[in-house]
Amino acid sequence: MSTHTLARSDEIVELMLEAPPGQVIKYDKEALCSALGVSDDPARVVVETSGRQAIVTIYPSNPLAVMPPPSPSDMLMDRYGRIVVGRHHNGRPARRRLFDPRTGSAVRAFVLGTTGAGKSRTVQYTLACEKRNRIVSWYGDLKGGQSAPESEGQVDWRATSQEEVVLMLRSAVAVAQARQRRYAALGRNAFLIGDPDPLMSVRLDEANRGLERGAPYRDEMTYWIKELGRTGRSVGVGIELDAQASHLEELGGSDTLRAMLKEGEIVLLRWSSSMMAQLVADGLLSATQSLPPIPKQFKPVQLRSQFDLVGDDDDDFCDTQGTAYLLSGATPTSMMRHWRIGSIAPLPGLDPEIQALYGPGEPARLEEASWEAAGAAYAARHDQADMAALCAELREELSQKGRGQAGHGVDDEPDAGGRRKPRLLVDRVVAALAGAGEPMSVEEVLASVNADGGRQVKSANSVRNALRDLVTADDVARAGHGMYVLQNA
Ligand SMILES: Nc1ncnc2c1ncn2[C@@H]1O[C@H](COP(=O)(O)OP(=O)(O)OP(=O)(O)O)[C@@H](O)[C@H]1O
Ligand SMILES: [Mg+2]
Repeated sequence: MSTHTLARSDEIVELMLEAPPGQVIKYDKEALCSALGVSDDPARVVVETSGRQAIVTIYPSNPLAVMPPPSPSDMLMDRYGRIVVGRHHNGRPARRRLFDPRTGSAVRAFVLGTTGAGKSRTVQYTLACEKRNRIVSWYGDLKGGQSAPESEGQVDWRATSQEEVVLMLRSAVAVAQARQRRYAALGRNAFLIGDPDPLMSVRLDEANRGLERGAPYRDEMTYWIKELGRTGRSVGVGIELDAQASHLEELGGSDTLRAMLKEGEIVLLRWSSSMMAQLVADGLLSATQSLPPIPKQFKPVQLRSQFDLVGDDDDDFCDTQGTAYLLSGATPTSMMRHWRIGSIAPLPGLDPEIQALYGPGEPARLEEASWEAAGAAYAARHDQADMAALCAELREELSQKGRGQAGHGVDDEPDAGGRRKPRLLVDRVVAALAGAGEPMSVEEVLASVNADGGRQVKSANSVRNALRDLVTADDVARAGHGMYVLQNA
């Protein structure tokens, strides 16, 4: 390693280093601090590496120890669709993209970090920024609403149960499809904010609870998230997952989700070693961009003599919540820290500082032209009883579906060999319509399906969903109000 320049300001020393060709820079932080004579606080030394090059900065004190709250101007998108989420160790603003105006693309984002690393505060800040930028926020919290309680009433839709999140994802995909149809009719091939529709974002906090192995609706959620990732980008519907995944398997375990992750904006808060190994293995981080880990606390280790008279009960440490790397930004290896969002100490109720971040007024709402597509769940989002009924119907629909395709009910039927083979609810519905040979109502189809010897279907809504899918696929046509007929009958 050779020293190229030694820049020195009043207090900060910056070393630009380069390894000889054929080598990459690897280092041991502790040994480096020792060589630099920094023994009091390792957080004073910040290293950024990229292949053969490195910048080592020695600060008089930890540059990220104390963060100010955001200012209103940080929260407004610049002309590149970015907001300022905090700052890097060198004082530069740390920006995140909410929209890409160059390509008219909504953003797919992932905020990853271990428990307590600061994911939900990041979520609150982003939600508040979205509100101020008139972006329609749909927010699902799989921790039952505990993650960001201040967001209640500040977003267009706040879903707090597994079932409601499934309904929200389905509605979001339906909205994206409806926009696609409308834009195609307008001859539009890119999204323009506010013309005619607002930018929209769907965000799942604690997404791992919906996507990990054994989660009740894992396949269903994975399916709709992938679908949204595919259709949403060009029609102004973004998606963000916030997760404490220690392994990408915990995010649905699908290749498509993995591919989405590679293209998305990634914020990496404090991680675990297995998570880092996975990110490197998946090519999200090249092996040479070794990121200095973010410790739980920036507390220097102190050796104390037993004869030392200083008391033992001092609690003088500096936590690192909110410290992160913005992996898809211009400087992925530059440590940054998010603004201080609300009180660091726990409060007994809602945090007034966080409430104030959202600003006054109503949040932006989904455009009326998409209300029909968003469906019954969207209409019921502020009505607890209606939503509970829809969630109960969904539970029933999905319990009948087993491990089948999303959106279709699966039933079991013995085949010729006596084994159980899955039979889709849509197929049973088609059989019922074919047998009748004339238009049927939902209730008639339900009765007929329940008389076919297969598993009992309790909810008319499952049948209604199957019929809707069949109409979309042009297998079934509507014949007057609430009546359905087989297309080729
Ligand atoms: N940007 C921040 N500003 C102020 N305090 C923060 C910030 N980020 C995190 N904290 C502190 O850390 C705590 C944990 O943060 P947060 O709830 O956002 O973490 P999390 O990653 O969502 O954790 P979990 O996995 O438990 O949901 C907060 O209660 C707060 O005290
Ligand atoms: Mg959280």
